[in-house]
Amino acid sequence: MAEYALITGASSGLGKEFAWIHAQNGHNLVLVARRESLLNDLASDIKTKYKVDILVLSFDLSRPNSPQEIFEKVTSAGINVNYLINNAGFGIGNSFLNSDLESNSNMVEVNIQALIKLTHLFGQSMIKNRTGRVLLVGSVASFMPGPYMATYFASKNFVLAFGQALQEEWKNTGVTITTLCPGPTETDFFEAAGMASSKISKLMPLPSAQKVANYGYKAMIKGKTTAIYGFANQLQAFFSRITPTFILVKAVAWITQKSS
Ligand SMILES: NC(=O)c1ccc[n+]([C@@H]2O[C@H](COP(=O)([O-])OP(=O)(O)OC[C@H]3O[C@@H](n4cnc5c(N)ncnc54)[C@H](OP(=O)(O)O)[C@@H]3O)[C@@H](O)[C@H]2O)c1
Repeated sequence: MAEYALITGASSGLGKEFAWIHAQNGHNLVLVARRESLLNDLASDIKTKYKVDILVLSFDLSRPNSPQEIFEKVTSAGINVNYLINNAGFGIGNSFLNSDLESNSNMVEVNIQALIKLTHLFGQSMIKNRTGRVLLVGSVASFMPGPYMATYFASKNFVLAFGQALQEEWKNTGVTITTLCPGPTETDFFEAAGMASSKISKLMPLPSAQKVANYGYKAMIKGKTTAIYGFANQLQAFFSRITPTFILVKAVAWITQKSS
């Protein structure tokens, strides 16, 4: 039976690349994001190159019921999800009190709640069938607190801890869960976060979304627990674990603060 990959945030950046990689590997796709026209364009581009079935689902993951409704649509289409790619996410580049409360709550809903709900809903049948792969998209932000992006960094801390815990719970089940931790990557992320002029996006040349997604895909297939993209990000993750927090927060603040 043909395998299916469900990818959230497939309308741009890493999610779009995950869609191409899965199609290249012969997997049928369920593409989820809000911008339906981008998903439809992607689906028709992929179909010109690969013979795969694609279901496009336009959903706003900041709506608490979206994951359940996605699950119902997928189940009623007779689709069994073998690969769950929890990729959708966004950040806000601003000091906490100057950032909109509703946007912060929506971020928690998209970056954390939707990821928990989709993993719970689709994880059940994976465990029952004793096969499946889950990929969570964390960040180097998963390893540290992030002044001026406080909710975002905290949400990615959650993602990593959640993934590492489930990998232990699911040992010997045939199902694995991998957390991909990219550093700054060439996508629409910084634009969407209102950080196009920040130091983060200018520190060094950014890797392409294709390279990072490919790295994450391979790590997921191998069933790795954590996959930090790139040596510089691996060093950053290592030093963030041994650096006293009062120094770490100052270093991160220097990077996340908007350049004037
Ligand atoms: N780029 C980086 O530097 C970087 C570094 C580390 C981690 N990450 C993580 O990588 C993941 C992918 O981001 P990206 O870099 O590829 O950025 P991106 O190009 O801005 O893509 C974000 C994706 O998330 C979707 N999304 C955002 N809000 C949504 C909502 N309410 N409902 C449904 N989908 C929503 C967007 O689709 P719609 O707008 O169409 O809904 C889009 O497809 C995120 O989890 C991000 O935190 C990125």
